[in-house]
Amino acid sequence: MTRDPRHDLLFEPVQVGPKTMRNRFYKTAHCSSFGVDWPGTQAHFRAMAAEGGWACVSTEYCSIHPSSDSHPSVGARLWDATDVRNLSLMCDMLHEHGSLAGVQLWYGAAHARNYESRLPARGVSQIPSDYLFVQSCYEADRREIRELQGWYVAAARRARSAGFDVVNVYGGHGYPITYQFLDPYYNKRTDEYGGSFENRARFWLETIELVKEAVGDDCAVIARHALDSLREGGLTAEECLSFMELADHLIDLWDLQLGGVIGEWGEDSLASRFGGENFQRPWLERARPHTAKPIVGVGRFTNPDTMVEMVRSGVIDVIGGARPSIADPFLPRKIEEGRLDDIRECIGCNVCAGRYMQRSLLICTQNATAGEEYRRGWHPERFSPARNAGNDVLVVGAGPAGMECARVLGERGMRRVHLVDADGDMGGAMRWIPKLPGLGEWGRVVNYRRVQLGKLRNVELVPGTKLTAQDVIEYGAEIVVVATGARWAADGLNGVSHDTIPGADASKPWVLTPEQIMVDGKPVPGERVLVYDCDGYFMGVGLAEKLAREGKKVTLVTPFSQISPYSTFTLEAPRLNRLLRGLGVELLAEHMVTRVDEGAVAGCHVYAADRPLEWEAGSVVLVTQRVSEDALYRELVGSEEGLRANGVTGLYRIGDCVVPRLVADAIFDGHRLAREIDSDDPATPLPFIREHRVLRATDEEFDAVLR
Ligand SMILES: Cc1cc2nc3c(=O)[nH]c(=O)nc-3n(C[C@H](O)[C@H](O)[C@H](O)COP(=O)(O)O)c2cc1C
Ligand code: SF4
Repeated sequence: MTRDPRHDLLFEPVQVGPKTMRNRFYKTAHCSSFGVDWPGTQAHFRAMAAEGGWACVSTEYCSIHPSSDSHPSVGARLWDATDVRNLSLMCDMLHEHGSLAGVQLWYGAAHARNYESRLPARGVSQIPSDYLFVQSCYEADRREIRELQGWYVAAARRARSAGFDVVNVYGGHGYPITYQFLDPYYNKRTDEYGGSFENRARFWLETIELVKEAVGDDCAVIARHALDSLREGGLTAEECLSFMELADHLIDLWDLQLGGVIGEWGEDSLASRFGGENFQRPWLERARPHTAKPIVGVGRFTNPDTMVEMVRSGVIDVIGGARPSIADPFLPRKIEEGRLDDIRECIGCNVCAGRYMQRSLLICTQNATAGEEYRRGWHPERFSPARNAGNDVLVVGAGPAGMECARVLGERGMRRVHLVDADGDMGGAMRWIPKLPGLGEWGRVVNYRRVQLGKLRNVELVPGTKLTAQDVIEYGAEIVVVATGARWAADGLNGVSHDTIPGADASKPWVLTPEQIMVDGKPVPGERVLVYDCDGYFMGVGLAEKLAREGKKVTLVTPFSQISPYSTFTLEAPRLNRLLRGLGVELLAEHMVTRVDEGAVAGCHVYAADRPLEWEAGSVVLVTQRVSEDALYRELVGSEEGLRANGVTGLYRIGDCVVPRLVADAIFDGHRLAREIDSDDPATPLPFIREHRVLRATDEEFDAVLR
């Protein structure tokens, strides 16, 4: 296939100071938790984006000095020659694919925990972090400011020697000290670095100038800059634009983002429930008249027509992408090759950010290979032919795990793959979850796989077919994969009391499960509804929102210390709280339900069980826990003889029918099994490279795990 000429514009080169981007795609800085201690994972992960066509690929935020250490959160570091060595692999690999390597210099000040280095954090003014607990800094004096700027310069020089082409003097999100000098919310100084806008701008401006002097002939010097702090009384959008004018002569490219409230960085990485593609456009439009330099803008871009329109109308010059590049590192290449229906579009769930927020390794709902490029040797677009491809495979259950497994098995050339589901269509729970308020884009999980499965001649969907164990045994497939999913408990079984709830019985008209509401259309009686959420993610809040929008008076009760605690990780919590409060939903954190009766629910505060409470409620929605639908698998396990007699050589289970987890985990599980279907024991995952220090080990010994 060839590129649609309408998209040619996206493949024009862009001059960025002394460097040239081969096209207009820029993978913006984003955390992965690979940092410098997992150099192979870091390099192979970023290099996949370079191979997929991103002309410039950046590290995550990169600490310039031990007094800015984010441990246990993991960023990159350029503290010394060992970091240079580890990051140089990433630079080399990006260069092999013709991409520029970018690094984002960061000094966190009040937001630097320094749990590893144990050094005091140097800051603008002595005000505690608004992001972390028990965390403050000391106000840098003039000598310390000079020294700090010297650390920036030293880190920039190290970046150059590692092979970086683009040095980004990070100033966005409220996270680095550069931003904190600029914003009066942080900057309370009375010297020449505080007070007036010009004074507040001085530190960042001087620092950019010093970095430019040091490496500007060899590297492009760019700045990540906020378009607006979005904070009442904080840095205004006008001041942000004024800074662009002040620094424009020093900057080779502006890398723009939205928001300066670090605790609400979900305004930049906006979840799809709150906004769609190009949500930053209104702010980006205002930036253009204030610079003569190229602008990178972000906004979960996945549609090439939107991208072209943004460039053609002059709003931006370069398409920035963090989440779209995680979900599909080959996005530019697919546009270039005119394979638009192969694009694996980001769904805006922010599970990627969620893992970083939990101090853990990057994962992606849509892209099971993200982060697995090195340690498992997975390529998102390439699949090796299976050694046992002569087998037929029956996948029972066409939810996310089953679909992904069938897709990868199909790509690996299995003779015939039948994807059978009792439902009339594929998707499993992901057929109805996108119908919850705001989650429409989650439907991309099914859409992408539907299109891909449709292209595989060896994969057939068999809908509307409920198989018994005997049917499975006699189906004629050598390999059976059970992916029958999970359902919400109908009796209040939950992880708090580890028990059911007396009176909670969804066969009663006034007790409902999520499926009964969303799939069966069971009526929700009464004006007052109590949603009991022991799950802590999207289901409880989603149903509360839906019912409130339908005119119910909703009380959301949760045993956790805040509603939907997982949404803090996915950056949705601040807006979710505002949304639900705005809809009049009563939010009761740290409360438990102990009994359900018709018209009333009994409960208590989690720390005051001796003081019972009662809530009036016409109906109760149980979002307590999911239970694996594993009866078919268990019956098959007990039918060893029948399986053997009918030539079934492998029986496996994947996804929620093993353990109900995130959709990302279900997809990963299906993907993993299909990648390893020809191993000696596919049920047991193959070992993967662990990048930890092994005394006297060589690089070859690390890599040997993959061979
Ligand atoms: C997991 C994750 C980590 C991020 N880490 C950084 C970071 O270290 N530095 C930064 O400037 N922006 C960071 N961002 C913000 C992105 O660069 C980007 O501005 C934002 O996600 C909006 O772009 P998108 O819609 O293309 O994702 C991060 C985003 C995500 C999703
Ligand atoms: S985890 Fe979700 S938001 Fe993040 S890149 Fe993947 S699909 Fe997009």
